[in-house]
Amino acid sequence: REWLTSPEKVRNLTVSRLCERRVITAVNGKLPGPTIWVREGDTLLVHVVNLSPYDITIHWHGVLQKQSGWADGPNMITQCPIRPGGSYTYRFNVSGQEGTLWWHAHTSFLRATVHGALIIRPRNHSFPFRQPHRQVPILLGEWWNADVGDLEKQAFLTGGGIVNISNAFTINGKPGHLYTRCKNHTYKLEVVAGKTYLLRIINSAVNSELFFKIAGHAFTVVAVDASYTKPYDTDVVVIAPGQTVDALMVTDAPSARYYMASQPYFSSLNGPPSFDSTTATAIVRYADADDAPPEMPRMPAFNDTPTAHRFYTNLTGLRRPGTPTVPLEAEEHMFVTVGLGVLACEPTQVVCNRSRGTLGASMNNVSFRFPTSMSLLEAHFSGFHEAEYQPDFPDHPPAMFDFTNNSLNTDPRLAPLLHTQRGTKVKKVKYNATVEMVLQNTAFVGTENHPLHLHGFNFFVLAQGFGNYNATTARSRYNLVDPQVRNTIGVPAGGWAVIRFVANNPGVWIMHCHLEQHVPLGLATVFVVEDGTTPDSILPPPPPDFPAC
Ligand code: C2O
Repeated sequence: REWLTSPEKVRNLTVSRLCERRVITAVNGKLPGPTIWVREGDTLLVHVVNLSPYDITIHWHGVLQKQSGWADGPNMITQCPIRPGGSYTYRFNVSGQEGTLWWHAHTSFLRATVHGALIIRPRNHSFPFRQPHRQVPILLGEWWNADVGDLEKQAFLTGGGIVNISNAFTINGKPGHLYTRCKNHTYKLEVVAGKTYLLRIINSAVNSELFFKIAGHAFTVVAVDASYTKPYDTDVVVIAPGQTVDALMVTDAPSARYYMASQPYFSSLNGPPSFDSTTATAIVRYADADDAPPEMPRMPAFNDTPTAHRFYTNLTGLRRPGTPTVPLEAEEHMFVTVGLGVLACEPTQVVCNRSRGTLGASMNNVSFRFPTSMSLLEAHFSGFHEAEYQPDFPDHPPAMFDFTNNSLNTDPRLAPLLHTQRGTKVKKVKYNATVEMVLQNTAFVGTENHPLHLHGFNFFVLAQGFGNYNATTARSRYNLVDPQVRNTIGVPAGGWAVIRFVANNPGVWIMHCHLEQHVPLGLATVFVVEDGTTPDSILPPPPPDFPAC
């Protein structure tokens, strides 16, 4: 079945939040944008009309894009942007996937307001858990009293790479009662007693991992990132930007009103927390409840890493017939450092200390630079690649050392590591190779949990832990039986994670930190997977209306 959605129009819109009227860029006049409901196996055609003043691309976060890499969406990676006044039809299929995903702009910070849920229902209506009474998308977000299209530019040119913090957290676009100036902007969920609700929770916040709770209610997590998990009972959901969590909630509490609450998980081990510290709230209201004040859940502390780690590591995958099992061996082994560091100033930066440099970020000491003249996918598949990228992204950092000890920054032997280089370096992988990546957090400029998102693939999470990765002890902890499957992994602050995936999808796939402010700093790399030999392993040519640069 093909779905032709009504044209999704991206345009400017005036909304009022926190008692201020603001012009934002949004889709079809809504914040969050429309929820796209489809079924497994459907082909989607989404006609995007850009009536905004910004360049736009849309990414279908978590959609594998098998043989449709042209539709993936990251700006200058798989396509050039849709210019103001332009349009483009994304066409892709969602076979073999079901669960909660989402779509968002993949240009600058615009995803703060240009995003929505993409929900893939099972083809035959059968969930591997009890049929819910209702399914409710819950988008956790962030709000700026500012033009988000300009935040990144301003941070880069004059802010030393640091983006202003957001003014509010939101639930389905609304900050809620605790932002005392404007109590009227609160999302409300009406429920009836004795039913099961499937909450499809999405972290669409730009720069914050979040804790999510509902007073008086517990959850059973049944899926993350549109991959089923073994049912996991918890009273708190922990979710990094880019991730999704499907949680069942039974309305078995006394008839009343209850707050749902979203609050940052601030994992940084250095410095004072820098975020708006108000908790976003929404209201769960039982039919017949009176107007007594809602009960507030007890939230974890902002820096409650043990709670976050428990949630992230307790999840296991649900083994089902027909779904891929974890490969027991890998052909490509990569050890990749991830973190912030210091870079030489760019000539265009207005405010930058020329001798000390500027804030940057890197993977294996390479700070990713986006190409400017042609998308990497186009460059690669039309054979002009050398001008656009170098296929020498390293499999290891330039030196092994204590990645978690900040004081080693001064050791002269580590000087090469401090001199991060900018470059458009990609990792070439042959079709169908199994790739194992150890992702190791560094502590050059603080350390925090970096949610790394891989386009084009789901990966198995074999293990994660704190300190420096140690092959011997880590391997004994690999889950090669029922690992969770994800598209975004929070690499623990001062720690590491190991993932494995099969490169069975020809195309050009970015992997990047989903804390948006780390992307312009360079926390990204790209996998180039060449065509295979069988017809179904070959990327077809781009569509006729593909945006040109
Ligand atoms: Cu949700 Cu590359 O992003």
